[in-house]
Amino acid sequence: MANVYQRYPVCIVRGSGATLHDINGRAYIDCMGGYGVSLVGHCHPRVVSAIKEQCEKLIACHCSLYNDKRAELLEKLVKIAPKGLNKVFLCNSGAEAVECAIKVAVRYTGRSEIISMVRSFHGKTLGALSATWNPKYREPFRSLLNQNFKFVPFGRLDKVEEAITDNTAAIIVEPIQGEGGVHVAPKGFLEGLRKICDEKSILLIFDEVQTGFGRTGRMWASEHWGVTPDIMCAGKAMAGGLPIGATLAREEIMDAFKIGEHTSTFGGNPLACAAASAVIDVILEERLVERAWDLGNRFKAMLEDLVEEYKILREVRGLGLMLGLEARIDIYNILMEALNRGVILLYSGKNVIRFLPPLVITMEQLEAVVNILRDILLEEEKKLIYG
Ligand SMILES: Cc1ncc(COP(=O)(O)O)c(C=O)c1O
Repeated sequence: MANVYQRYPVCIVRGSGATLHDINGRAYIDCMGGYGVSLVGHCHPRVVSAIKEQCEKLIACHCSLYNDKRAELLEKLVKIAPKGLNKVFLCNSGAEAVECAIKVAVRYTGRSEIISMVRSFHGKTLGALSATWNPKYREPFRSLLNQNFKFVPFGRLDKVEEAITDNTAAIIVEPIQGEGGVHVAPKGFLEGLRKICDEKSILLIFDEVQTGFGRTGRMWASEHWGVTPDIMCAGKAMAGGLPIGATLAREEIMDAFKIGEHTSTFGGNPLACAAASAVIDVILEERLVERAWDLGNRFKAMLEDLVEEYKILREVRGLGLMLGLEARIDIYNILMEALNRGVILLYSGKNVIRFLPPLVITMEQLEAVVNILRDILLEEEKKLIYG
């Protein structure tokens, strides 16, 4: 295995709901959720049976042939999508969804510059990496990156306006920056971007790969601001853990692609589509969007109490069950100690603990996470004071 992942010393073999089990039979509360993938919970019975049923019927079917499950998914996806985004390209990952968004924006507008945000994350394939800000990911490959991407501070409309030229095709933004440290778009920013884009005929791309499908307490994070993008990227949670991605756009935009200009061998395969179709059913029937909002608010309040209690914590950010707890110290020890105590946490940079648990996590599990964190933080503070 390529040595590219920061590994946790644990071997996971089984999962259900928000609980994971390791090879020794030990249970863990999963606050990582596969970086936001396991939104409906691990091995949700509806998703499992949809996959089982489909894999006995048909696994592969290239998009040059029509397929019933793909059609079913597309219908459901467009129904829950932001208004007007009714033409879809199906692919296999978030980065691929971004690649498609960038290409179609350039194709539609005939322009070639894209404005992205400081602290943004859009994936690590070369096109998506060109839109990703973090120098740690970009610098080693700088010579391969597209020079038509400009970065402006997240939240600064004046800087966006300064960056616009006659050649600007699109602005790409995460409504809540995930990998960059869980930063919520400040009030007025997305609304302002919409206005600028409308005035200058520039396309607005929202990357909802991490924030989509109810994670933030709305089906799409963009709904918190009432702003509809022209193009939207989705992925991660969409197929309950099977690889998938989707780019949605207004019809006239997606129609800028001519046959053959953008395709994918596996994109739209019936197996991933069957899983994704079941995921959408589960989200709607189990009211997971509302659940994310309700549990997220209660969990956030508990984390805010921790911030009051411990000086090594700075603040809590985020919406729904996409939360970040920023510390004043490197959080590596906290993560490893949490693992020892049966909680799998995720980082966002060196000092932000990111919570992306399955939305089916229980309040009892969230309370247990807070109690375990409280014990660890107490010890960390003691270490700082007494050495
Ligand atoms: C906002 C956003 N866009 C794109 C991606 C890339 O997705 P993938 O890893 O599936 O390529 C991610 C992954 O973390 C993400 O958070």
